[in-house]
Amino acid sequence: MIPIDPAARANVHLIDHPLVQHKLTLMRKKEASTNSFRRLLNELSSLMAYEVTRDMATQDVTIETPLETMTAKQIDGKKLVFVSILRAGNGILDGVLSVVPGARVGHIGLYRDPKTLQAVEYYFKMPKNMEERDIVVVDPMLATGNSAAAAVTRLKECSPKSIKFLCLLTCPEGINAMYREHPDVQIYTAAIDRELNDHGYILPGLGDAGDRIFGTQ
Ligand code: URA
Repeated sequence: MIPIDPAARANVHLIDHPLVQHKLTLMRKKEASTNSFRRLLNELSSLMAYEVTRDMATQDVTIETPLETMTAKQIDGKKLVFVSILRAGNGILDGVLSVVPGARVGHIGLYRDPKTLQAVEYYFKMPKNMEERDIVVVDPMLATGNSAAAAVTRLKECSPKSIKFLCLLTCPEGINAMYREHPDVQIYTAAIDRELNDHGYILPGLGDAGDRIFGTQ
């Protein structure tokens, strides 16, 4: 078990709402079916979307209620992009989009080259005008942090206004790795687990998120 760098920990928003914690516990259980794992992930993602969008800018608009004219707040969901790291990140998309339906969606696919151990990009599709947008990168597990940090590095080439990272679970290794490469990225997570095992799985964790979402085990 390695310590979390205190500066890195300061970038982590732990979403400890009882509903989030309860659903996460149900998802961790090995007997959870694919169907219930996916449904719980969907519900959890929408709850977590409230936290990750807490500081979203609003603008004043003038509207007519049935009784009078007033100035009210409005967000511009179209400025927000959820970027899914394939494939497990797709499990988070429906839930976050149910809360911010106007948001755009990007996808990034990376694999680890077995010889160089470097992240290699195989898919990258983003909306236009990324320099006007705030990005929330989504992936259920921030484990070694290698692909997450590589995805953020690639996304920075698009010069977005900001980048946040939303996951279900992380661990000291992932938090420290993200901070080393991207100290400007805030992480939103439902839990910080104990450690990574030798195969890069989070302990106690919930297993392989992609397999559990898509039933491919
Ligand atoms: N990816 C997963 O799906 N699970 C882990 O525990 C770590 C990485």
